[in-house]
Amino acid sequence: MSASDERRGDADLYTVALVCLGNICRSPMAHVVLEDKLAAAGLADRVRVVSAGTAGWHVGKPMDPRAAATLTAAGYDATRHRARHIDDGWFDGSTERADLVLAMDASNHAGVRAMVTDDAQAVGRVRMFRQDGAEVPDPYYGGDEGFADVLAMIEDGAEAWTEEIRRTLD
Ligand code: 4NP
Repeated sequence: MSASDERRGDADLYTVALVCLGNICRSPMAHVVLEDKLAAAGLADRVRVVSAGTAGWHVGKPMDPRAAATLTAAGYDATRHRARHIDDGWFDGSTERADLVLAMDASNHAGVRAMVTDDAQAVGRVRMFRQDGAEVPDPYYGGDEGFADVLAMIEDGAEAWTEEIRRTLD
């Protein structure tokens, strides 16, 4: 398969973009967990997960070691992440169109919302990661227990989104 075939193949995948501030703690954790749950649900070849930060401070860096340790202790693979910055292409399709953009907190949501015009269809693709609209709080300046709390919230959210994405694709 050529590189262009591969890109065309990717463009057909339902794409979920996960967003936090730095893309080194919350959204990378959610990225790994959601991919894991989608794979367990047999959806790995139909859904692509990406993640990014509203700030570009950590672009190219791996996950925060506390986030990685929390994931590893729970049996996930935290080694592949490299931080990215949010991308207009999610909405205008110029790079990788995202079908669903899930923000970890209200500030992240506002940051993504600011990239979108008043096109109602695009606005509707931006949601909070927690389906009750609550925030996944920023654990960066806190202690290790904050990361365990974040993982629990992320596992619940990823479970719920896996079911919703399955219904959407069926
Ligand atoms: P994240 O956490 O948004 O969950 O990746 C943070 C990471 C880095 C910073 C803040 C929050 N920072 O200030 O560098």
